[in-house]
Amino acid sequence: MTLDYARWSEALSGERLPVAALDLDAFDRNARKMAELARAHGKALRLATKSVRVPALLRRVLELGAPFQGLMCYSAEEAQLLSREGFDDLLVAYPTLQRSDLAALRELHAGGRKVALVVDSQEGLARLAAAVRGTASPFPVVLELDASLRLLGGRAHLGVRRSPVRTREDLTRLLDAVASHPELSVRGVMAYEAQVAGLGDRNPFKRALNPLAFLVRRFSVMAIARRRLQVAELFAERGHELALFNGGGTGSLNLSAREPWLTEVSAGSGLYCPHLFDYYSNIRFEPALFFALQVVRASDPGFVTCQGGGYIASGEAGPDRLPRPWLPQGLQLIGAEGCGEVQTPLRLPAGVRLAPGELVLFRHAKAGELLERFNEVVLVSEGKIVGRAPTYRGLGLAFF
Ligand SMILES: Cc1ncc(COP(=O)(O)O)c(C=O)c1O
Repeated sequence: MTLDYARWSEALSGERLPVAALDLDAFDRNARKMAELARAHGKALRLATKSVRVPALLRRVLELGAPFQGLMCYSAEEAQLLSREGFDDLLVAYPTLQRSDLAALRELHAGGRKVALVVDSQEGLARLAAAVRGTASPFPVVLELDASLRLLGGRAHLGVRRSPVRTREDLTRLLDAVASHPELSVRGVMAYEAQVAGLGDRNPFKRALNPLAFLVRRFSVMAIARRRLQVAELFAERGHELALFNGGGTGSLNLSAREPWLTEVSAGSGLYCPHLFDYYSNIRFEPALFFALQVVRASDPGFVTCQGGGYIASGEAGPDRLPRPWLPQGLQLIGAEGCGEVQTPLRLPAGVRLAPGELVLFRHAKAGELLERFNEVVLVSEGKIVGRAPTYRGLGLAFF
């Protein structure tokens, strides 16, 4: 059951505001739903840590068992922290060439942790090889294949700018490069189709672009399936085991999981279901993570002003990156101010009154980023606070 405004107000009545609050029941339902989507196609589900940023919640999900298996980390230092917290099977999914990061990865590997780094360049391979030289076994790398949709001979690029590895030749070159470094071994490939997983096709803030987004997603799903199949064929031809083949994200979970050659899919955001994940035609999760602000002023009839609130999401700047007032229903941000650093004004809908001292519940646009602003998240179940969990920030950690 989703909580209404009265239940949230009651649950959070003793809390210092602003507060980050998780509806643990919705979170658990989202986790089970994700698991079903992956299980339906026999895929392991790797948890994207950047979209959670709370070790206790990562643990809660992994304790559900299969298909959840392993973490997709966003930094080497983070993997180190998570290893200290007892986690294993750590895929650091974004390249790094920094000496301190590579030293951290070496330490994890030498200490017997199952760790791997995503690499897409000769320079990355050379630096990693130098950093892990002398360890007892080769360090596993995962090669990243670009999964963008490129049309008109590459002149139209739809997707993210990440890996330069696109063709069979590119991948062959990188595989050969790994083979030339005895310190390294290839564990597999990652190909993340951001223009499907991270692009909603029902975005009310970009109505005119929704039909285009729909088409880009449609074409991409077909194109990336073909490319990933070719990768599997290349590995088979070379007699090389593809122990890990990762794709997908919350926004494409049900689509990527269908590809038989992928060994696993990744997801994280669907657990909290920030509001950008309301705008997809193919997935449905429940809002689970919120933040509450106190109403501190009422400058005019029909308006209130809350304290704080300027938690803007990363990505292409635009109104959809702002937090969304959620409860009471019908509140609206004011175009000229948006969510302010210390004050956020709201327009009240007809029939709604809010007095100074009452709270307003918001949803962030993205999943993990909100928790960079809070030391802990309050856990609510059946309308009652049942616990608190420190965020990375609360543990004194900031990776980038
Ligand atoms: C490599 C990679 N895989 C998967 C994901 C999906 O994560 P989420 O499910 O949180 O959207 C992301 C998110 O940006 C990513 O960068």
